[in-house]
Amino acid sequence: SSLLVLHLGRNNINNQMPHLLSSPSNLKVAILGAAGGIGQSLSLLLKTQLHYLIQANSPTNIHLSLYDINKEVIDGLYADLSHIDTPISLSAHAANDGKGGIHAALVDSDIIVIPAGMPRKPGMTRDDLFNINAKIISQLTDSIAESCDLSKVFILLISNPVNSLVPVVCNRLISHHKIDKGIEKRLLGITNLDLVRASTFLNELSPSNNGRMPYVPVIGGHSGDTIVPVFSSQSQLISTMDEPQLKHLISRVQYGGDEIVKAKNGKGSATLSMAHAACKIVTNFTNLLLGNVNSFESINYIPLLDHQNQPICKGSNELMSMIDNLQFFAIPATVTSSGVNEINYDILNHLNSYEKNELIPICLMKLKKNINSGLEFNVEEV
Ligand code: NAD
Ligand code: LMR
Repeated sequence: SSLLVLHLGRNNINNQMPHLLSSPSNLKVAILGAAGGIGQSLSLLLKTQLHYLIQANSPTNIHLSLYDINKEVIDGLYADLSHIDTPISLSAHAANDGKGGIHAALVDSDIIVIPAGMPRKPGMTRDDLFNINAKIISQLTDSIAESCDLSKVFILLISNPVNSLVPVVCNRLISHHKIDKGIEKRLLGITNLDLVRASTFLNELSPSNNGRMPYVPVIGGHSGDTIVPVFSSQSQLISTMDEPQLKHLISRVQYGGDEIVKAKNGKGSATLSMAHAACKIVTNFTNLLLGNVNSFESINYIPLLDHQNQPICKGSNELMSMIDNLQFFAIPATVTSSGVNEINYDILNHLNSYEKNELIPICLMKLKKNINSGLEFNVEEV
């Protein structure tokens, strides 16, 4: 059927669209942790933006399912968003709400976005959030395994520490024996805020003369030195900078999260910029599942091996041989409706010597530890 889709025109692709979705003519996006700082802003952005992707000749309903353990806030969020004049339907769900709770929130979901969990306070690292958030995310993973069609659903994880929690989700799904449905191809940690920052900070120092924001790939992980911005890909824009300026720019991307944690002074971390970064990613997935595109390329933190230690797709093996056998890495990859389809590892062949010999080795050393913590986590022991 994929060949068939390739040979059809766009109108016909739209007619074929229902097989991509869990429920015909209905695309459901669930947000777990919707009452939080990211969750509320992301819900607003999706409620006001996603309907622009619906094609007139394929009137798919888009449904936003809002879930949180905080019932008061979720009810208020729902009431408020429900006055917005866009054709995106909404539902609100809370734990023990007497209306199916998390199961009702998740059932028939096509895309699940997870910003549930604690944010940092000044003086904390993302790793300090591990124990509490790993427990929350493990429980949410159990609910996803029970309520969703794992042969279709995409899981987009925002909660920190992303580097360790994506492995936690992977392991938890394996413990449910559900991983054989290829879900590891559809499990992605969102690192797009790092790309958003790299683009913004570079543009501040060296604005391009075409009025467009520069695209800067950022690979590795999502925490301090594991974040590797590839500014060498914008050689023209960085050519005016001296070495200290460039090193400062790299460090600003790596520690951009701390700037916000400090400025918010105990009232949390990035929410608005994160919601913007996540909205861009959810938009890509929505476009894909509506059948508007057959694939897209994006950078996310993804598993490279499946539960039987086999490469999850084309490029996994090559990437692993370049990055010291790490099982998870943020890297450009092509995504189709069945998941990550091809890892575009060539970016590693074009790094400059500083990126390759200084940034990547530190990234790999720290990422390895983060991944091991995630793989060793057992919620039953907490
Ligand atoms: P927040 O405290 O404002 O919101 C978190 C929400 O999660 C709250 O509404 C809370 O009730 C809810 N929650 C807690 N346990 C839950 C459960 N079991 N089920 C459902 N909901 C639950 O925090 P925030 O600022 O929105 O940040 C959320 C997470 O995102 C943090 O871990 C933060 O570190 C992370 N984050 C990641 C990135 C990234 O780039 N990936 C960027 C910013 C923040
Ligand atoms: C960020 O990069 O802003 C987030 O990961 C939140 C944090 O704790 O810094």
